[in-house]
Amino acid sequence: MSVSVTPAGPAVGAIIDGVDIAAGVGDEDFAAIRQAYIDFGVIFLHGQDITPEQHIEFAERWSEINVNRFFQAVDGHSRIAEVRKEPGQKRNIGSNWHTDHSYDNEPAMGSILYARDVPDIGGDTMFASQYAAYEALSDGMKETLGRMWAHHSSRHAFGALAYVPPETVDVVGRLGNPELATQDSLHPVIIKHPLSGRPALYVNGDFTVRFDGWTPAESEPLLQQLYAHASRPEFTYRFAWKKGSMAIWDNRAVQHNAINDYPDQFRLMHRITLEGESLEPFVGR
Ligand code: SIN
Repeated sequence: MSVSVTPAGPAVGAIIDGVDIAAGVGDEDFAAIRQAYIDFGVIFLHGQDITPEQHIEFAERWSEINVNRFFQAVDGHSRIAEVRKEPGQKRNIGSNWHTDHSYDNEPAMGSILYARDVPDIGGDTMFASQYAAYEALSDGMKETLGRMWAHHSSRHAFGALAYVPPETVDVVGRLGNPELATQDSLHPVIIKHPLSGRPALYVNGDFTVRFDGWTPAESEPLLQQLYAHASRPEFTYRFAWKKGSMAIWDNRAVQHNAINDYPDQFRLMHRITLEGESLEPFVGR
């Protein structure tokens, strides 16, 4: 076996070495990579030189591909989403702490993001362990949240009425299909991770809209407190991309945040989202 796994940060993430996806990944190596993904929540590989076909082939070893309805697809590859920012464009994609696709009843298990072109400086992505966020809650909060469920939605984020500040309308052409933003879902606030069995906090600022049985206004203060808690620095790791880097993250274990700090530079990523499953509570409802 040629894979080596080195923890990236104290709470989350690992660097994988000894893998060349273009050359092919044997079953034993793939099992080690998958185990690192389960253990660390997000894994990083550098120096990959892959075609879109190889990206798809690698993704299909993890799960079925879940085609994102709102992102612009890569030309000729409808199953790869393009995460692009041109010099001068103001808005980037994914610049708040969030969990991809939590508005789906069976939220995506994760994403495989591949860097095709990156800024000389800036454009990092941050990841926050939601296992660590759960563990740091008080016993009283764990007990209370363990009985709660929350509604998530895509409508306010991607729908026709989504608010796009006038200075960032340049997102047009990169995000689309507002008529498809009809998904709402209900998930436990504390999930039992489908692979590790560990408890994780599962609310996020982009898509969670209220607690079940609570109004949005009643939900807002506690949600805001949980969002701030979920991204405390000690739960995070900040990944600096190079051309050819890849991150594979687990949406049930981490949140992520793409930092928008490269106004005059180009950044182009290819993202494949992996199909997930419905989520169970860690403590029975
Ligand atoms: C995303 O939220 O999927 C984009 C992450 C990134 O561009 O770093």
